[in-house]
Amino acid sequence: MTSIEMIDDWLDRGTAILKNRDTISKDIETLPPRVFKGQELAKLLGLSSVNTVYKAEERGLLNKPDRQSRSQGYVLEEVLERMDHFNALPWREPEEPPIYLSVTNFKGGCWKTAIAWNLATYLANQGYRVLLNDLDPQATISDFMGFMPDYDVGYEDGIGPYLLNDPDFPIERFSETAIHKTRIPTLDIIPGCLDLASVESTLTSELVRYLHAGESEQVMAMYQRVGQVLSHVDRNYDFVISDGTPSLGVLPMNLILSSDIALVPIPCEVPDFSSSLRFLEMLKDYIVSFTDNLDITPYLPQLAFLPTKFNPGKHTKGSEVVLNDIRHTFTDTGLKTVIKRHDSVTHTLNYVKRTVFEVNPKDVDVPRDALKKAVMNYSAAFEEILETLIYPRWPSKKAILEDMGVY
Ligand SMILES: Nc1ncnc2c1ncn2[C@@H]1O[C@H](COP(=O)(O)OP(=O)(O)OP(=O)(O)O)[C@@H](O)[C@H]1O
Ligand SMILES: [Mg+2]
Repeated sequence: MTSIEMIDDWLDRGTAILKNRDTISKDIETLPPRVFKGQELAKLLGLSSVNTVYKAEERGLLNKPDRQSRSQGYVLEEVLERMDHFNALPWREPEEPPIYLSVTNFKGGCWKTAIAWNLATYLANQGYRVLLNDLDPQATISDFMGFMPDYDVGYEDGIGPYLLNDPDFPIERFSETAIHKTRIPTLDIIPGCLDLASVESTLTSELVRYLHAGESEQVMAMYQRVGQVLSHVDRNYDFVISDGTPSLGVLPMNLILSSDIALVPIPCEVPDFSSSLRFLEMLKDYIVSFTDNLDITPYLPQLAFLPTKFNPGKHTKGSEVVLNDIRHTFTDTGLKTVIKRHDSVTHTLNYVKRTVFEVNPKDVDVPRDALKKAVMNYSAAFEEILETLIYPRWPSKKAILEDMGVY
């Protein structure tokens, strides 16, 4: 028989192991920050060559980094300083809206968290100001970003108190208590923790009361709480990116309904494709029931389908067949890029808690070729997302692309 004491024992031992895992924490602490150099740096600064940067440094227009050789490259803080100097910061115009983007599907393990985390670190490393909202009680992204859930951060360090209208947490304190700086200067995080599960059940009980009383406006407000809280800080960011749980409970529905864009990862595997269709069916039923029972038509975000787990080969023919099915189903809203399996990269980088956009090839024990392929694959997907889903919402960017003949 399993007793509560036994579970307590396992928890104590497991947590002690996690906290004291010396080798891992050393690997993480000593990992140098990512540097930018050469053509990649020139591209970020909108220049044809980095020599222009060196000249500006020689003329005293920019601080010269205190290093022996320029070939060592520049860390993101220095890149941002240079972007500012060359008027190359990619930020939206102040009057343009920040974009709320969530990654969602009730299919578990379809790479939602990996995509949200990679996307957030990609955009932040491009110089965009990003707020990452971890609404998953598993809090994987928070852990990866250095906030060990339930130990480093708990209920009072996240969005929970504000969703429950906790009187000790007036909304004016939201920035101070819930938003935390990360190791990436352009990326802030609202960390998650296990308590989000009880926040969700409290919200669900409240929702059920309003539903029984037929109070339509209150019901709708329950689904808009997350968006409402985030609207107090969103002007500081270009992107608010949220990761949630594989369900259609009140919190994931909040994420969907507060998003401008909901990315739906769909695995190129036979049973997963069918679950993704069920997800859409349930989402539709949800929305229809609002309209039928409460006379409310909620705003649905732009859904964009991103094929994942693509693994073609002699023994995995299903992958190509399902990709074909996805293409034929989402003819107008499916992304062209497909996220492939990058097992060797993912396993090693999860160990040091970094994405492919945060490491220098020489600092990690990953085959260079595999790392390069993963960077190219994610970058292609995210560039496509920027071009097809984001820039059309920002007139300043749309105009530049129109001039280039993209639209
Ligand atoms: N491109 C990839 N190649 C190989 N493995 C990957 C890739 N992307 C993610 N994974 C791994 O697959 C596993 C599941 O991914 P992830 O946690 O992102 O899924 P999820 O949809 O967020 O799951 P959940 O439904 O539990 O929230 C993780 O171990 C992750 O590291
Ligand atoms: Mg997840």
